[in-house]
Amino acid sequence: MTSMSFKGMDIISISDLTKDQIEEILNLANKMIPYAKGEKTTKALEGRILANLFFEPSTRTRLSFESAMIRLGGSNIGITDHQNSSVAKGETLADTIRTVECYADAIVLRHPKEGAARLAAKFSEKPVINCGDGPGQHPTQTLVDLFTMKQEQGSMKDKNVVLVGDLKYGRTVHSLVEALALFGANLTFVAPDILQIPKESVKLLEKAGISINLERNLENVIADADVLYVTRIQKERFPDQSEYEKVAGSYKVDNTVLREAKKNLTIMHPLPRVDEIAPEVDYTENAKYFKQTFNAVPVRMAILSLIIGGQV
Ligand code: CP
Repeated sequence: MTSMSFKGMDIISISDLTKDQIEEILNLANKMIPYAKGEKTTKALEGRILANLFFEPSTRTRLSFESAMIRLGGSNIGITDHQNSSVAKGETLADTIRTVECYADAIVLRHPKEGAARLAAKFSEKPVINCGDGPGQHPTQTLVDLFTMKQEQGSMKDKNVVLVGDLKYGRTVHSLVEALALFGANLTFVAPDILQIPKESVKLLEKAGISINLERNLENVIADADVLYVTRIQKERFPDQSEYEKVAGSYKVDNTVLREAKKNLTIMHPLPRVDEIAPEVDYTENAKYFKQTFNAVPVRMAILSLIIGGQV
């Protein structure tokens, strides 16, 4: 597998990538760390333009992509408030994409509708990167998550990963479990019944021979966890707000919950959080969610340099 195989590639779903390709991205991300920190500089993507189209709110994904592009010597354009774009006049996503590809070398898209990124890729000759399509997928977040897990735990083979919270609507979870299946982790899903991991994901994992466990109670499984991946219950995705009220605040990871945890437990969260991790946990050695947040820059630098095609 050479880097040339990435050039011009869309990244819509984590299943678009092989295990070898994921490993190549993560290896390159490791080399990008000093550039992401500004300790070294590069002009690998000088003269190249990234279009960042965000039709849903974002802090980390948008800013880390912008930062990654700037650290690589390139430039950013974008739409962050679609009320100020021609979408507000009724322009279709297809026409927006056909327009933006005239102005940029790659397109980063976050959109509230599942399948929007796949549709966008059909209308674009330039590579499209899915940065969240409703409750669908968020593959580059998965690469960030895997990078962080490997930094903290080494090989993920036979490691116990406990995913807790909104496993139904959490797109980062949907992408992550597919990748963890490739790397041989054991998976435990902790959620209220109405927010459990979708049946399609369970089927896929069973087909891949992955050990899975469905739970309601975090206290029952915390002692065996190597990684605890916490997610926010996504109020905005519930069709019925009274259903949200029933499950809001179902889980809170605090130092009491962690009393039974392994000493080297890695606690992660794609963020933003609301109240599912108590601030007291931030001061423990186990809290890695802000390291995960930083890792978004080297990982996205690796992705951009591979698909746009600049050598660092
Ligand atoms: N992790 C993540 O997708 O965060 P944002 O919604 O802030 O981009």
